[in-house]
Amino acid sequence: MSPQVNAPHLEVDVYEKRWLLLSVVLLVLFTLAIGLSSFAYGIQVPSPEQRVNPNTVAQEGPWAQPGLRELAPGKYEAYVLAQIWTFLPNTITVKAGSTVTFYITSKDVQHGFQLEGTNVNLMVLPGQVSKLTATFKQPGEYRFVCHEYCGVGHHTMFGKVVVEP
Ligand code: CUA
Repeated sequence: MSPQVNAPHLEVDVYEKRWLLLSVVLLVLFTLAIGLSSFAYGIQVPSPEQRVNPNTVAQEGPWAQPGLRELAPGKYEAYVLAQIWTFLPNTITVKAGSTVTFYITSKDVQHGFQLEGTNVNLMVLPGQVSKLTATFKQPGEYRFVCHEYCGVGHHTMFGKVVVEP
């Protein structure tokens, strides 16, 4: 008589199996929803574009003369310097249909930058350059605000992109 081998056997209740399956299906659905919507809405993840020295960034390099640079007709780079409690520049004017890539850094504390009507929303950290791009199809005023608390003047820290027809 051969010895009987008992393979390990896990008894799982049929309802438990169904709930486990449902959990896996939901995880797959949520992952797909995030993936697809990030393409559908053009979600941009701000990445640290470049490191700079916050002590000298206002004296040298492109942030010493913050503002717009035209790369081609309708295509711009905007170098924005955040400091307590203002953005330099705090008004940016472009024509409708323009694409603007923002390069933003701070020379002092942590700030934020959220641009109305677009999906530009980023943290502005001293020593780091944050970069995001927006295309302005409709003329109008698009306000931007600092949305990271940065001290007593935080609420005065705002500006606008003026899009001319
Ligand atoms: Cu800068 Cu709040």
